[in-house]
Amino acid sequence: MKEKVDGLNRQFIDSTAEEALSWFVTEFNGRIAFSTSLGAEDQVIMHMLATLKKPVKIFTLDTGRLFQETYDTLDITQKKYGMTIGVYFPDAAMVEEMVRTKGINLFYDSIENRRLCCQIRKIEPLKRALQGMEVWVTGLRKEQSVTRSEAAMIEWDAGLEIIKINPLIHWDSERLWQYLREEMIPVNELHSQGYPSIGCMPCTRAIEPGEDVRAGRWWWELAQYKECGLHKKH
Ligand code: ADX
Ligand code: SF4
Repeated sequence: MKEKVDGLNRQFIDSTAEEALSWFVTEFNGRIAFSTSLGAEDQVIMHMLATLKKPVKIFTLDTGRLFQETYDTLDITQKKYGMTIGVYFPDAAMVEEMVRTKGINLFYDSIENRRLCCQIRKIEPLKRALQGMEVWVTGLRKEQSVTRSEAAMIEWDAGLEIIKINPLIHWDSERLWQYLREEMIPVNELHSQGYPSIGCMPCTRAIEPGEDVRAGRWWWELAQYKECGLHKKH
């Protein structure tokens, strides 16, 4: 699979995000899924997919701890594009057991607890959402963090056994925001209140000018731990 992915990266080395997306949605028709967190990057991809008018499974993971502004973005986006965004929820029994044994705000107590919460609220539903799919589209960008600086546009996720495509991997934030403005794409209101990166409410805070874009995510942890496991290297 590594050779296949290396070959695809060579094939798309000079391609735009739209060109790569267009090829993938045609080639993997019915076997390609896009996960959206309703963040700025994902709104760009949503817009591109709407323009391509090809059937792609689009879904979001509702951890149960999201911001109201994120739900508002979900609602507005779905209405604007007339495309269904499937909402996946965590398994209720697993959440109940976790909260009973570890507490409702367990994530602040240890990295282990935080990872358990992400596992139950995000990873398990993600696996369900990706079942039967061969390609997973995400909004990852290299610039986002130290843990993502090595990422390629096309990757093989050995844990999930799926080809991952990150069409915006090389985009910087200037390009991202220019595209959002030019295409008049709706964005989460929190972006204009100091939140460049938005996850769950208890684990996301606004950043100060000059701070790293992901400084507000799990801000009590060191940079190298700041991944929920959705995009971990296997
Ligand atoms: S995270 O791993 O730290 O939470 P981040 O918020 O940067 O990820 O988003 C990176 C990509 O992961 C998004 O572009 C999206 O494809 C996917 N993603 C993250 N959170 C969610 C979510 N709640 N639902 C669906 N996809 C998500
Ligand atoms: Fe739980 Fe925080 Fe992870 Fe959300 S980001 S799943 S609240 S630990």
